[in-house]
Amino acid sequence: MPVALITGASRGIGAATASVLAQEGYRVVVNHRASAPQAEDVAATIIAAGGEAMVIKADVTEPDDVAAMVNEINQRWGGVDVLVHNALTPFDITSFANLTWEQLGGKLDTELRAAFLTTKAVVPGMISRGNGRLIYLSTLLSRRPRDGMIALGTAKAALDQFVRYVALELAPHGITANLVAPTTVEGALSTGKVPAERLAAMAAAVPMKRLARPNEVAKTVAFLASDASGFTTGHYIPVSGGLGMD
Ligand SMILES: NC(=O)c1ccc[n+]([C@@H]2O[C@H](COP(=O)([O-])OP(=O)(O)OC[C@H]3O[C@@H](n4cnc5c(N)ncnc54)[C@H](OP(=O)(O)O)[C@@H]3O)[C@@H](O)[C@H]2O)c1
Repeated sequence: MPVALITGASRGIGAATASVLAQEGYRVVVNHRASAPQAEDVAATIIAAGGEAMVIKADVTEPDDVAAMVNEINQRWGGVDVLVHNALTPFDITSFANLTWEQLGGKLDTELRAAFLTTKAVVPGMISRGNGRLIYLSTLLSRRPRDGMIALGTAKAALDQFVRYVALELAPHGITANLVAPTTVEGALSTGKVPAERLAAMAAAVPMKRLARPNEVAKTVAFLASDASGFTTGHYIPVSGGLGMD
């Protein structure tokens, strides 16, 4: 069975992705940083439905944690076939006027550090197998600015370009690297902090007149993990109900 590592899978999009990939026949690694009970629940639900899951606590911004996590997966399950880098490191919502370098530089650092460390850790095994899928959660905000989201949007734009370079270099090895870019997702922790009337306005601006659902994001990830997407690499795939068409 192929093995999928989903970073930040204790809730939200990551949890939905772990569940969808388990249904599609992957052994899934449910990574979290500090939400053990929730991560254990995600894994228990997958196992109760007949799937295979294991929980690994690791801070994806810490080199030793990432190395230990991937070593454990290599030893127990033989390697990582699919990396879904989804973990959301903290960021501040602020105008440019109030933005400090610590806020912007800090988010750039954690966003890229996590993507860099997880990618570095899984790629050698993928190269040796001549096959692999790298999938990263971006956001529509990396291309379409929205008030207050300068730190997140800028860091995710850097992630987008990092992934294109990774895709270019790894393509000859049979490894694909792609981005999934949702618009605001209903029920997400961050969405819960947005006032209801602002959420309603955001939904109204989407051509399909609603927010994205975690499962829709997860199914797009599953397509990119599958053989069906084997000749698709370096792409940014919105899950946005028609918002922000190219
Ligand atoms: N929600 C949206 O509306 C939306 C829209 C567009 C894109 N996205 C993207 O989709 C991804 C997931 O978003 P979400 O809203 O589902 O996130 P979320 O609900 O905040 O969940 C984040 C996950 O990341 C984990 N995490 C945070 N820091 C970590 C670290 N250093 N190491 C390991 N795990 C860590 C959290 O676990 P702990 O609690 O244990 O830290 C949690 O499992 C993000 O990349 C986000 O930018 C989200």
